[in-house]
Amino acid sequence: VERSLSWDGTAVVTVDQTALPADYRLLRLSTVDELIAALQRLAIRGAPAIGVAAALGVALAARARTHDGVLDEPALRRDAERLAAARPTAVNLAWGVKRALSRVDGGADAILAEALAMVEEDERLNRAAAARAADLVRWLCPDRPLRLLTHCNTGGLATVAWGTALGAIRALHEAGRVAEVLAGETRPLLQGARLTAWELRRAGIPHRLCADSAGPTAIATGLVDAVLVGADRIAVNGDVANKVGTYSLASAAERAGIPFVVVAPESTVDNSLPTGAGIEIEQRAAEEVTTLAGTLIAPEGTAAYNPAFDVTPAALVTAIVTETRVITPAADSATESLATLGLAG
Ligand code: MRU
Repeated sequence: VERSLSWDGTAVVTVDQTALPADYRLLRLSTVDELIAALQRLAIRGAPAIGVAAALGVALAARARTHDGVLDEPALRRDAERLAAARPTAVNLAWGVKRALSRVDGGADAILAEALAMVEEDERLNRAAAARAADLVRWLCPDRPLRLLTHCNTGGLATVAWGTALGAIRALHEAGRVAEVLAGETRPLLQGARLTAWELRRAGIPHRLCADSAGPTAIATGLVDAVLVGADRIAVNGDVANKVGTYSLASAAERAGIPFVVVAPESTVDNSLPTGAGIEIEQRAAEEVTTLAGTLIAPEGTAAYNPAFDVTPAALVTAIVTETRVITPAADSATESLATLGLAG
């Protein structure tokens, strides 16, 4: 499978996600500052992708901070801190930085080796989580062609390869189980329209695009069998931060009694956070809301509320599926949990 992130020997090579679907353009990032800028303008985006990119960024910094074979560790740590602060919500970013830095004693080569190991393992982890999520959805919604709803982009672009929630949708499609995917456009930056619709088309998966505000009514009127999304940070109690708009889908899913399933690698679980209340939500520029493709769509100077993420309470989450386990937050207090049915783990 094609990779959206790689290392060419001296630089990070990535698909410019801001140019899709019009252009499939590769970017070559050879400094930590270029990489930070790419993360901030969402040329590289999606929690798993930014985690691996961050590790590659530490590798770039380590090479630049090595002179005559000696690594300037304080300077590297300053670069690493700037990288980790590029975006606040997805815990994968800080995780990627930390994991790469854990090899600092081995110098720049050891850090690069660790980052490359992360590039290598990403697809395997995603496929494992996606396969388990696909099995879960088949069990929850047996014997019928599935109509699935997803939000934002959680495919090969948001990861190194294959994807999380979209990976599960691909697995279900390969098993011949997908009737239709409804993809929410994902205002304001349109990751659903620009990226998910592009990936679904390339994979030959039947789909329709909808405005985000149409998602809850699609669920309420019986057009959706299950909702599948990714995550940017998961608290220990099962609260899930994901792209803004996820919470309304989870609320609608609970009311309609359909499964709301989160697919993410273990690196998205923040074991230091008891609940989602502690998750910092990135606030982005007003222009993302007041303009569309560069054209002003609100009166000049209109202020905007533009959180990039929301937090879905654990009680609305049917299951969180990772490469190693199935967590069932909503069922934890119920008498008959998925765990007792033998589906956990
Ligand atoms: O702002 P973005 O596009 O980086 O937000 C991405 C999301 O919210 C995704 O759903 C999440 O990172 C999971 S990607 C497998």
